[in-house]
Amino acid sequence: MRTALVAGNWKMYKTIAEARQLVSELVPGLQAIAGVERVLCPPFTALLAVRALLEGTEIRLGAQNMHWENAGAFTGEISAPMLAELCQYVILGHSERRTYFGETDESVNRKVQAALLHGLTPIVCVGETLEENEAGRTAEVVRRQIKTGLQRLNLGESEGPEQSAPLVIAYEPVWAIGTGRAATAEGANAVVATVIRPALAELYGEAFAQAVRVLYGGSVKADNAAEFFVQPEIDGALVGGASLKAAEFIAIVQAAAVE
Ligand code: PGA
Repeated sequence: MRTALVAGNWKMYKTIAEARQLVSELVPGLQAIAGVERVLCPPFTALLAVRALLEGTEIRLGAQNMHWENAGAFTGEISAPMLAELCQYVILGHSERRTYFGETDESVNRKVQAALLHGLTPIVCVGETLEENEAGRTAEVVRRQIKTGLQRLNLGESEGPEQSAPLVIAYEPVWAIGTGRAATAEGANAVVATVIRPALAELYGEAFAQAVRVLYGGSVKADNAAEFFVQPEIDGALVGGASLKAAEFIAIVQAAAVE
């Protein structure tokens, strides 16, 4: 049984003051929901302030990116040891980073390795573009993203199927992100069942593949979230736009608790 997880990806939204406001609206509602892991991923600049507001709650904190090196002359970058002081999760390989900042399966792989080494749980994003989808290449692309992006990981002590694995996958079809055009729940479930879990099993065995939480992401809203959460292979959601509205995000987490 995999514990549901819902993460809010705030992207490049919210100053510190705005982040404090949103978190103060989120905490009472989110705290009241049991049985779902709840994660907020604000921009780097708001991590410390949000962390202070989440103290004493079970709501977890995540970052949206990091560099693979521990330290060095990499102006503008942030490393895993820096994040490990602040948060528990880090989103890696988001399609916006792949599209606008040149991230590749190889760089994602180095980042995932660094995150695990420093005790951060990576939320690794995979997903095909519209062009790839229409060309019937979804399985090939997502399989490559998993097999290369997650190769050679040091996963520590063997994880039984009863435990959640130390990494999370988010299946986010690029054409569904921020477009208001979500994938069908059945379609997303099929990609997880026939591409993502089999690729994980090839890498690290069936027990591991079954222990990994796989989220859906792309235009998840309060009114469509439950359709995804009833799917057997989908364990939660990575939410962008709707995570910036307190009532909407709380309703999505609530839907995950019911399923
Ligand atoms: P969206 O973004 O919910 O705004 O479509 C999802 C994401 O980018 O993680």
